[in-house]
Amino acid sequence: MLNCNRKKNVGIDAIAFSTSRYFLSLKTLAEHRNVDYRKYYEGIGQEKMAVFPPNEDIVTIAIDAAQKVLAKIENKNEIDLLIFATESSFDLSKSAGIYVHHFLGLKPSCRVFDIKQACYSATAALQMAKNFVENNSGSKALVIGSDIVKYSPNTSGEPTQGGAAVAILVSENPRLAYIEPFSGVYTADVADFWRPAAANEAMFDGRLSAHNYLRSLEYALDGYLEQSSLNLEDIDYTCFHAPFNKMAIKAARQFFSERDIKDALVYNALIGNSCSASLYISLISLIDNCKTDLAKKRIGMYSYGSGSVAEYYSLVISDQYKSVVLSEENRQNLANRIEVSFDEYEKLGTTTESFNYIGGENAIACYKNIGSVFLAEVKDGYRRYEEV
Ligand code: HMG
Repeated sequence: MLNCNRKKNVGIDAIAFSTSRYFLSLKTLAEHRNVDYRKYYEGIGQEKMAVFPPNEDIVTIAIDAAQKVLAKIENKNEIDLLIFATESSFDLSKSAGIYVHHFLGLKPSCRVFDIKQACYSATAALQMAKNFVENNSGSKALVIGSDIVKYSPNTSGEPTQGGAAVAILVSENPRLAYIEPFSGVYTADVADFWRPAAANEAMFDGRLSAHNYLRSLEYALDGYLEQSSLNLEDIDYTCFHAPFNKMAIKAARQFFSERDIKDALVYNALIGNSCSASLYISLISLIDNCKTDLAKKRIGMYSYGSGSVAEYYSLVISDQYKSVVLSEENRQNLANRIEVSFDEYEKLGTTTESFNYIGGENAIACYKNIGSVFLAEVKDGYRRYEEV
């Protein structure tokens, strides 16, 4: 049960994302799949998708994103909680967050665990982190959402692949955005998308998933409006989970102005679906690309995770938000990525345990990783990372 009388001002103090250095153009994919590329560009709203080399995974990109956020604070020892949200976990036992904790040099008394509920998980983590900070004055929490999305070749999901990590620092008196105390949640048991533990690629019912995404928005938004006593006109912008941009555009059309989500979708069109990270990449995209001053604006946030859980909540952007954004760096990182050929994409795509496809030393030499830590070895299923 939400307590709507919270006195503390808690929210997002800093946020950053990281994705692969490599991408496939959807024009290339369309050509090899005998599809009119306009179906991808206009029909689903996507232009490029991140593809991952063997020395990158959900941990290495998470560390890269988190290091950018840590650079914005003076004392990382204030971080008492790290929650790693993912549905692309490679280990059913050990938390991916432990590796992140290690390479960030966080204190041993920082609590770490992973959390899962499809693409919704980072929002669940963010709300938990908010409650934690509200109840532990002076503490900070680090939320990671990191996913690499893979569908089988020649499926309708293939052009919506992608991947990225976001790191979100939650604190009192946040410099980026305050998290408002009301939200609408909608949970329903639906067989729209799943990944059995041994499978590398997701199974899905595309049409059902799109239908349930929109239906859940209706319920979650209703709950939000009821709890907050706000009207739709009180929401300045909405960011949506964007499995592909057209999905978010359809959702916006249902309740809001389609025009108002354009800036929020710039990065997603270039990265593809990044599941838990997707909604927060939309938020970063809005902040980086919107020409209007966003200070004091209310941003609605629609999170959807197949299976399914949906939540609609809102942020109010802080006056000093421009002091913590990384807009130029984000634009440069996306502009400087390296395009892969279709052959390369096929090789990378078919080798999720891909590390062995070109072998240890060569894997490191052939591909540039994005940050300061890379996957150096997978032995007996155990992952060993090294610093560059
Ligand atoms: P499809 O069935 O291949 O595509 O894939 P389609 O035939 O429905 O066409 C898509 C659009 O392109 C249509 O526009 C066509 O008219 C248009 P719409 O009617 O939708 O406005 N089109 C063209 N436009 C211009 N020029 C052309 C052309 N041809 C066609 N020549 C589908 C669509 C959603 C099924 C597919 O992308 C898919 O299966 N995706 C994977 C599942 C998914 O992303 N679902 C989204 C909701 S579930 C979710 O968000 C959760 C998720 O992130 C996972 C999690 O929670 O963990 C997926």
